[in-house]
Amino acid sequence: MLQPVRLPLASADLSLFQNAVAAYVATGSAISSSTFKPTAPLLPLRRVPDLRTHCHDPSLQGIVLGREDAVEETGSPGHPAVLRVTPLPDGRMRCISKWLQVGYLGLVFCKSVMDPRLGSYSKLNTWRPCCMFRVSVGTPQASNYLNLGKTYAIKQRSFGSAATDIPRNPAFSKLNADDISYFRTILDERNVVEDEDRLSAANVDWMRKYQGSSKLLLLPKSSQEVSKILHHCNSRKLAVVPQGGNTGLVGGSVPVHDEVIINLALMDKIVSLDKINGILVCEAGCILENLSLFLENEGFIMPLDLGAKGSCQIGGNISTNAGGLRFLRYGSLHGTILGLEVVLANGTILDMLGTLRKDNTGYDLKHLFIGSEGSLGIVTKVSVLTPPKLMSTNLAFLACKDFTSCQKLLLEAKRALGEVLSAFEFMDSHSMDLVLSHLDGVRTPLPSSLYNFYILIETTGSDETYDKTKLEAFLLRSMEEGLILDGVVAQDINQSSSFWRIREGISEASIKVGAVYKYDLSLPIDQFYGIVEEMRNRLGEVAKVIGYGHLGDGNLHLNIMTARYDSDILAQIEPYVYEWTSKHKGSISAEHGLGLMKANKIHYSKSPETVQLMVDIKKLLDPNRILNPYKVLPQSCFN
Ligand code: FAD
Ligand code: MLT
Ligand code: ZN
Repeated sequence: MLQPVRLPLASADLSLFQNAVAAYVATGSAISSSTFKPTAPLLPLRRVPDLRTHCHDPSLQGIVLGREDAVEETGSPGHPAVLRVTPLPDGRMRCISKWLQVGYLGLVFCKSVMDPRLGSYSKLNTWRPCCMFRVSVGTPQASNYLNLGKTYAIKQRSFGSAATDIPRNPAFSKLNADDISYFRTILDERNVVEDEDRLSAANVDWMRKYQGSSKLLLLPKSSQEVSKILHHCNSRKLAVVPQGGNTGLVGGSVPVHDEVIINLALMDKIVSLDKINGILVCEAGCILENLSLFLENEGFIMPLDLGAKGSCQIGGNISTNAGGLRFLRYGSLHGTILGLEVVLANGTILDMLGTLRKDNTGYDLKHLFIGSEGSLGIVTKVSVLTPPKLMSTNLAFLACKDFTSCQKLLLEAKRALGEVLSAFEFMDSHSMDLVLSHLDGVRTPLPSSLYNFYILIETTGSDETYDKTKLEAFLLRSMEEGLILDGVVAQDINQSSSFWRIREGISEASIKVGAVYKYDLSLPIDQFYGIVEEMRNRLGEVAKVIGYGHLGDGNLHLNIMTARYDSDILAQIEPYVYEWTSKHKGSISAEHGLGLMKANKIHYSKSPETVQLMVDIKKLLDPNRILNPYKVLPQSCFN
């Protein structure tokens, strides 16, 4: 029998709800009004005609935890309402009409559990919470669908349990009413955000693994506003966390404690484009995809592209020195960023916004800020060298029998495709299976059960016939030599997008399993896949281990997934992965940064003298250490 969780909800309150759910998941104890006392004001009722889950679990049952007068057509007042769920032909589940409160929080229960090893469900005797959802604001149209599997899917995963336990630095002041009043004098009132719903989204990272408790989100509209904010915070010793699209994967973009969040989303203007040289100047809050679309109309492209392009901001990309899918062709942002405007901790606006290709006047200080993860300054404007858009793009999706074939294929591709090669991406069959079983509408162009490894090769050039002939000749030769077992070349833009969707969807699919331990390693090519196999052997049945990444750049993403975060499993993974990487002269952060997750691990990849110089630079630029504290560098270096 379904055991309803009784919850006299006053209204929606996400973080309290999350904690209550986490406690429920961890201890099995019922959620009660003592563990969950929501505070947010009531919102109007909306009819939500069609709630769809993206969860394939056929035993799903929905249960809404709600205020008695907010749920009609359902059980008796004060009791949770059970939503009936019916399967749809495409495998998703549909939940029939209910009146729900906007902002409503719900918990979906199921009577089975995902087996991460098999990727299938096993039956349980008891009901367990598997997903959480929230009714979104808006007209009751398709956009009102509750994407159960996506944003708030928590499949038996406890919030915050993976976060590092770092004490709050007592040297920091606590925010007070005078601070808020001051911020209201320098920013538009609506850009000083204390609203709990908006804060709860800004306090938690994309993976829902790291969670802070900031009480204030500031949305400056200009560099001068950023300068005034930082000047005040520095003089008051208020810690801050710079935030872009909040898509970072190492816990760098969210507060650890009560840091003030400064999000650059409103600084999203394009300042200029030099149409001869392709030099773009824009504000740091521009979303990467918007910049790409703007440039493509002008005959240029952004030199970087990544799966998070629809949310990440160029300032965040620069601050993490993001790599992504075009790195192989266009290289690091250290090469393509020509200039930056940065606001220092004390509010000084540092104008380094050059637009020159060559400029050797003194130290090139912009490089200090590229990849500094918001710990040295806030990037407010950028100047980027953008390559011309080339008209002919080809994409091949290939299967290989073993990793050695993938390595040889890379070498051959570099030799044979040379100047037109623009991406060489890699994933193992476990990554492929994960995407197919967790993402809606994703299909494989090749049978997934037959092959061990998959490679995506993209070429971009200026002569369609020449480029195609070149690629086809290369593919034919590689097949004859046995490097490729099977493959397809996309015939149109829809097919290309569907191939990319598989590769780009891996991170989204991996967070649906439950807990994901993510490692982003640079490794010598001959060692590239060894750690994936070792971890699979080491962890056996308890975890699902996948390997994918930017093989062309020597960058492996090792993801280890389990149903929930668990310190025993973590102890089997770390420090083993870091030691292994260090022993093989790799890097423990190829492109995601150190953030909170790896601040204490820097010594696996950097010498003590190098770390000391970093600490000295941090002390010089940010003596009060207000900028993104607890991140990037070990706390112990400052004691
Ligand atoms: P945030 O996540 O908001 O912040 C990241 C860091 O930068 C934080 O430390 C923050 O304090 C700091 N920061 C943000 N804005 C500023 C600013 N204006 N000034 C100073 N500091 C700032 N990364 C890759 O490298 N390659 C990939 O292929 C890739 N693919 C991804 C795919 C998915 C689906 C997801 C979710 C993430 C992916 N990432 C990838 C990670 C992430 O998208 C990148 O790190 C991205 O550059 C972060 O940008 P953001 O605007 O979201 O920054
Ligand atoms: C990727 O290459 O897909 C990204 O870096 C994201 C990830 O590793 O999950
Ligand atoms: Zn990556």
